[in-house]
Formats: sequence, structure tokens, C-alpha cells
Amino acid sequence: MNALVQGAGRGIGLALVAELVARGGGQVVATQRGESPALATLRDQAGDSVKLIQLELTCEASIAQAASRVREHVSCSRRSGQPSSCCRSLTA
Ligand SMILES: NC(=O)c1ccc[n+]([C@@H]2O[C@H](COP(=O)([O-])OP(=O)(O)OC[C@H]3O[C@@H](n4cnc5c(N)ncnc54)[C@H](OP(=O)(O)O)[C@@H]3O)[C@@H](O)[C@H]2O)c1
Repeated sequence: MNALVQGAGRGIGLALVAELVARGGGQVVATQRGESPALATLRDQAGDSVKLIQLELTCEASIAQAASRVREHVSCSRRSGQPSSCCRSLTA
């Protein structure tokens, strides 16, 4: 399962990323507003399965840039030439 976790620099978001990494099996895109040393450590431990992107939710330009980066990072499986539900939600 691929996941996008917003506000992953600390608190519940950081804990969610840690749990997803522990479960494995998919890509995790985690957003942070500033630099989070704790999240960077998690990413370093997890390797390629965790991607960090910057997101400030009160800034439309930041939201657009983050959406673009999510599309770059999340690899979506395709069945019968159709995008998976994951791809559809990203491109809606
Ligand atoms: N903790 C609980 O027991 C609990 C229970 C029920 C509901 N909730 C709700 O669940 C949410 C998360 O709780 P939490 O305890 O994890 O909170 P938290 O420790 O304060 O973490 C909030 C996260 O959201 C990020 N954030 C805040 N404003 C942002 C913005 N404008 N743009 C981008 N990121 C932003 C913060 O980034 P920065 O690090 O950059 O500030 C931080 O990573 C909150 O809405 C809270 O009300 C929490």
C-alpha cells in the first residue's frame, strides 16, 4: 500500500510514517513544513521506500508543487491499461 502522510515532521504524522515503514510493502510520501531531523532519520533508515517533500498547507503554490512531486514519486500499478485507484486519486 502506498501512502501520503501530511504533517509528518512530528506528532501523529511522524508516528504514522514509522508504523508504515515497519509494516513495509509500499511507498510512503511524507510531507514536512520545515526540516524535521526525526523524519530525516526515519527516511535514512527506510531507504527508497520513503520520500520527503516540503508542504506548507496555507500556500497554494506549495500545495501545487507538492502534488507534482507526489506524482513523480508514487509508482502506480496498472491493470488492463487503466490507472489504479491510486493513480486516479492523484490525477483527479
Ligand atoms: N495528539 C492527539 O492526541 C490528537 C487527538 C485527536 C486529534 N488530533 C489532531 O491530529 C492532528 C495532528 O496531531 P498531532 O498531535 O500530531 O499534532 P502536532 O504534533 O502539533 O503536529 C502537527 C503537524 O502538522 C504540521 N503542520 C501544522 N500546520 C501546518 C501547515 N500550515 N502546513 C503544513 N504542515 C503543518 C506540523 O508541522 P511543523 O512541525 O512544521 O509545525 C506538524 O508536523 C491535529 O490536527 C490534532 O488536532 C490529535
